[in-house]
Amino acid sequence: MARLDGKTALITGGGNGIGKATALAFAREGAALVLADFRKEFADDVVAEIHASGGQALAVGGDVSSEDDVEAMVRAGVERFGQIDILMNSAGGGSTADGPVTELDLDEFWRTIRVDLYGTLLTCRRVIPEMVNSGGGSIINMSSLRAVIGTHGADAYTASKGGVLAMSRAMAMQWAEQGVRVNVLAPGVVLTERVAAFIKPDNPIYQKSLLGPSDPEDVAEMALFLASDAARKVTGTVMRVDGGASIY
Ligand SMILES: NC(=O)c1ccc[n+]([C@@H]2O[C@H](COP(=O)([O-])OP(=O)(O)OC[C@H]3O[C@@H](n4cnc5c(N)ncnc54)[C@H](O)[C@@H]3O)[C@@H](O)[C@H]2O)c1
Repeated sequence: MARLDGKTALITGGGNGIGKATALAFAREGAALVLADFRKEFADDVVAEIHASGGQALAVGGDVSSEDDVEAMVRAGVERFGQIDILMNSAGGGSTADGPVTELDLDEFWRTIRVDLYGTLLTCRRVIPEMVNSGGGSIINMSSLRAVIGTHGADAYTASKGGVLAMSRAMAMQWAEQGVRVNVLAPGVVLTERVAAFIKPDNPIYQKSLLGPSDPEDVAEMALFLASDAARKVTGTVMRVDGGASIY
């Protein structure tokens, strides 16, 4: 039996990078997928790939920082597949407009907070009652190595991912009794197309990866574990997929 047979997963940012790799891994393990991405065309391509290998998937466009869009994503998933058992929040990411607090672009600060932190809040806020009604679920939120160790140069992103980490711990406390597990992934350098374009091998974060940078599939495997019943006693944890960078 596949590890996610009979389960439905909503993945935000499921059209590209880590979200896409996780969608393909979850589909391989029998889950039905709802892929939400503001580049809907990306999600459509992943859905086509899943359909081609015999899986079930639905693409939904929308911005995770819009309450109306989040409502539409979740409603579409519930209408199509009945319930949401797994929520993975992968939409987000930093940009070159970020920097130290004295220099970063203030609009970029709010963009990052709105997408990475507030977007995570909105999806959790909408999905948790669904999970409670159906007897539980697994939420996987995306933080970063930057929220675990001291780094410099991306303070808006660091703040938003620190918020995700702390908020997830609070949610894990709040909903454990109702069977909702909430865990966090804290990747180091993951060579998605977006990151490969601006984090080069001479970057100190890159150099701290004792095992070298990760591929999106490496993070997807950890998400798969956290989503599955193998992790039924795991909540409130932070899974560092960083090649050892946080112990460097
Ligand atoms: N790649 C890394 O090195 C790395 C390291 C640590 C954490 N992360 C985190 O992992 C997550 C995924 O990163 P990635 O490198 O796979 O990014 P990516 O750019 O490859 O994929 C992100 C996807 O999210 C979508 N998206 C972005 N903003 C959105 C929004 N507001 N609403 C809906 N969809 C939106 C994009 O269209 C894209 O398809 C991010 O939260 C990022 O901060 C990445």
